[in-house]
Amino acid sequence: MSSIAIYSAKGGVGKTTLSVNLAWAAATRSNRRTLLWDLDAQAAATFILGAGRPKASAREVIERSLDPGDAIVATAIPGLDLLGADASIRGLDVLFAQLDKKKRLRRLMDDLAKRYDRILLDCPPGLGDTGDQVIRAADLIVMPVIPSTLSRRTYAEVRDHLGRQHKGATPILPVFSMADRRRTAHCAATAAEPDWPVIPMASAAEEMADRHAAIGDYAPRSPVTAAVTQLWTMIERRLAGDKA
Ligand SMILES: Nc1ncnc2c1ncn2[C@@H]1O[C@H](COP(=O)(O)OP(=O)(O)OP(=O)(O)O)[C@@H](O)[C@H]1O
Ligand SMILES: [Mg+2]
Repeated sequence: MSSIAIYSAKGGVGKTTLSVNLAWAAATRSNRRTLLWDLDAQAAATFILGAGRPKASAREVIERSLDPGDAIVATAIPGLDLLGADASIRGLDVLFAQLDKKKRLRRLMDDLAKRYDRILLDCPPGLGDTGDQVIRAADLIVMPVIPSTLSRRTYAEVRDHLGRQHKGATPILPVFSMADRRRTAHCAATAAEPDWPVIPMASAAEEMADRHAAIGDYAPRSPVTAAVTQLWTMIERRLAGDKA
């Protein structure tokens, strides 16, 4: 099992959109047994995928008072399961701090390793205890970055935090998100980092919550679908390289 966290200290940068679509690509393009774990109490990924209600609350899973299996539901996407979020994890940073188990998330994911080939984490924004748990749990961090000076600064901040607090142990892959070629600032930012993958801005991406589906399912020809598929191939190659 390999785990991929879609993470940023910044809110509203496209983490959930990328999480759902990368999970779709893992399940349908690479035929991986895939779990998407929604760690954000806003529960946007859970809402988009619109799966059934689990028996357990998201908090009970983190507390380890119930088996994660009781909280997992199947989605309409073949090969993709969901461990959903709900309001019970609103204070997730505080909960992790109280539990005082630095690798709790990693251990919970290890318990699921036999059932899944890929676990993707849709993370809440922030650099608190949840972020640290995620950094310790993930094999790879994918960080969406809006092509702007402030977002690139956040990337540098997260990269430095990883280097300082986590000895740079978890690799981080920055990805431009919502790139709009009509905007001068976006063009300048993407030109400054020509090696970073780019997910373009497209109205199809905004329809996910109404359609309760991944973009690839309803807009297979969208440039976002092509970019997500290409990014997933790159991630698979990287994971294979890390294991080699
Ligand atoms: N490639 C894209 N093209 C157009 N709109 C997009 C794209 N990616 C994301 N969006 C839109 O931008 C908004 C924020 O995206 P999303 O919810 O994925 O961000 P987030 O980082 O998960 O936010 P939060 O920090 O609140 O969890 C949403 O309305 C989403 O539909
Ligand atoms: Mg989100």
